Amino acid sequence: MGDLAIFVLIISLQSLMCNVYCSCLNQSSSENILEDSFSFPSDFLFGTASSAYQYEGAFLAEGKGLNNWDIFTHEYPGKIRDANNGDMAVDQYHRFMEDIQLMTSLGVNSYRFSISWSRVLPRGRFGSINYSGITYYNRLIDALISRGIKPFVTLNHLDYPQELENRFQSWLSPEMQKDFLYLANICFKHFGDRVKLWTTLNEPNNQIILSHLRGTFPPSRCSLPYGNCSQGNSETEPFIAAHNVILAHAKAVQLYRTKYKEEQKGIIGIVVQTSWFEPISDSIADKAAAERAQAFYSNWILDPVIYGKYPKEMVNILGSALPRFSRKEVECLKESQSDFVGINHYTSYFIQDCLLSSCNIGVGASKVEGYALKLDRKGNLTIGEPTDINWQHIHPEGFRKMLNYLKDRYHNIPMFITENGFGDLQKPETTVKELLNDAKRIQYMSGYLDALQSAMRDGANVKGYFAWSLLDNFEWLYGYKLRFGLYHVDPVTLKRTPKRSASWYRNYIGENIRRRYD
Ligand code: BGC
Repeated sequence: MGDLAIFVLIISLQSLMCNVYCSCLNQSSSENILEDSFSFPSDFLFGTASSAYQYEGAFLAEGKGLNNWDIFTHEYPGKIRDANNGDMAVDQYHRFMEDIQLMTSLGVNSYRFSISWSRVLPRGRFGSINYSGITYYNRLIDALISRGIKPFVTLNHLDYPQELENRFQSWLSPEMQKDFLYLANICFKHFGDRVKLWTTLNEPNNQIILSHLRGTFPPSRCSLPYGNCSQGNSETEPFIAAHNVILAHAKAVQLYRTKYKEEQKGIIGIVVQTSWFEPISDSIADKAAAERAQAFYSNWILDPVIYGKYPKEMVNILGSALPRFSRKEVECLKESQSDFVGINHYTSYFIQDCLLSSCNIGVGASKVEGYALKLDRKGNLTIGEPTDINWQHIHPEGFRKMLNYLKDRYHNIPMFITENGFGDLQKPETTVKELLNDAKRIQYMSGYLDALQSAMRDGANVKGYFAWSLLDNFEWLYGYKLRFGLYHVDPVTLKRTPKRSASWYRNYIGENIRRRYD
């Protein structure tokens, strides 16, 4: 027996004995050993995330066309808390070199951004390509890569050319699938030699609830009692829009697979919004309601994308309001498997059954959301520490549970955490000093990153984490009053100033990269 074989034998005997005796160590000390020994895989991505409308500004610069958010914010400024819009946003269109410098100083190895559809195709497929838009993204991509930052590109994050709304009501029409495919092809063709990480659409589940169920986002379509809109039908349109989104995603994936992947060698997925839904009691009815809440939220998109069919809870409750996939479409879905899923995650809720029990009126309680009432408290107990925003509670344990749920439901498909972050609501009395001293954001991120590590130890196949967000930015209906950035942005000068969380994230990344080599 050679020296090496003897060495291996000794080590094996030692670990065998340890298995017999070390398991007698009390649980907490063995857990500590594991805690200390955790390290992220060497190819793990640490990044920051953004989106075109929230960051770029330059709203009519160099040939960009008008998009749905340009029109919405200009026509209805009263719907935005500070009556503002993304015309200027944080002007990343002109300041991306400075922003990449900030990313370099954080030590991130990836940046998630989205393509402004109307910058590349001002009139969708009904007009020509705006080559200034292509040049902008080429410059951004090249500058990122030259600093060792991998571009992680979302083809579409809520904004689309207004022309597509005017012509055929955007996602309510199968025509939108053609337009999305057209955009995808142009992006793969022009950027795919350097972009290796693609997602098709950003959280259509959340977007559609806001745009077509409650009607608070453009195109402001809904019906009573779900919202107050001049047109729309909350009981049917959200499901039609999602159906078109799912098929558009599948077609784009198939296009990438068949035409580009072999040469470009990238991977592609979709991003969904997730929240952890904790049954409010141990009753069978509340547990089933929590499962229905998942079905009507992230599984609504992920089940068709991964398994080619809608969740059974949706089929049973919605009946004919839920569109059906034709046999050919099911095949297309199955052939266009995503390489990974992108997970946006911010908060948790308690869930109470409203199918078998009587319920108060509230979010989630109706048929179209699965008769599963979303609550932030059970008696006096909140689901997590409350924050300034009514929809966000600090509940890292929910994140761990969510990742385990997805791991089990989707056969441990690779996941990227494409968004996770904490929002500070700026009140009239809030000072800049307070915003810079963002201890709550650090508490939030550190809790959620611990939960991520726990989920990975549980076996969740997570490949990266993107903090939302690099900078304070245009936070949709909140305008600039809700700040998610690691960097503060002055509303007048647009000067970027690091918050305490920026140095905290820099240290976290540094330590975790170092740990791999210890
Ligand atoms: C969206 C972002 C948004 C963030 C914070 C996510 O659902 O993708 O665009 O800024 O939530 O509200």
